[in-house]
Amino acid sequence: MLKKALKALQNGEFVLMYDDEKRESETDMIIGAEFVGAKEVATMRNDAGGLICCCIHPEYCDSLGLPFMTDIMDVAKEKYPILGKLTPNDIPYDERSSFSVWANHRKTFTGITDNDRALTINKMAQMCKEERFDDFGKEFRSPGHVSLLRGADNLLKNRQGHTEISLAMGEMAGITPVTVVCEMMDGNTGEARSVADAEDYAEEHGLIFMDGNIVIEEYLKD
Ligand code: 5RP
Ligand code: CA
Ligand code: CA
Ligand code: ZN
Ligand code: ZN
Repeated sequence: MLKKALKALQNGEFVLMYDDEKRESETDMIIGAEFVGAKEVATMRNDAGGLICCCIHPEYCDSLGLPFMTDIMDVAKEKYPILGKLTPNDIPYDERSSFSVWANHRKTFTGITDNDRALTINKMAQMCKEERFDDFGKEFRSPGHVSLLRGADNLLKNRQGHTEISLAMGEMAGITPVTVVCEMMDGNTGEARSVADAEDYAEEHGLIFMDGNIVIEEYLKD
């Protein structure tokens, strides 16, 4: 199962990743950022419907100087005290959020179209892959329309969200560890899509549905 999923990621295909009933209990569509085009953004928008986020490996984040949003708020609260009061210390399913800043590539127009978001996502992977970290500010502006997520240091050893699961998958697959995740929603119930429905979607579209715990187990093995 894991091998097949890694192969799918190498081929630029989506993998459906369920985290855990004790966590969000959500299935995200995940894909390598380097493979994302307008078609993939449209698929996530139409078939998943959650937030389209770009996860960045912590080592890339260090090189880019890209902080967690909570670290920015911590510094900025000196001038804007409300930011200190907005601390996300009551997330019901995790201790920490992986949100960083939002960005658009500077060659986008509004930033929200499928073409624009694909460009932002794709160029982020390309810049990291080519280790052109000094180009970050030259190539991107913030705020924008793609949510950047910073993977926890040492990934799954420190946090076990879709952010880290997808980046660990990226590492294991040997693709550029910049990934895109989007939660699968259920338009009828107003809730996250059930596991059964996500599995049906996977079958209908020839995709792999996976339990994130398999990834976590394998990653923490050695
Ligand atoms: C951004 C989210 C999603 O849950 C996404 O899966 C990444 O977060 P996490 O690492 O917490 O699972 O909150 O829409
Ligand atoms: Ca989350
Ligand atoms: Ca606007
Ligand atoms: Zn998640
Ligand atoms: Zn979520």
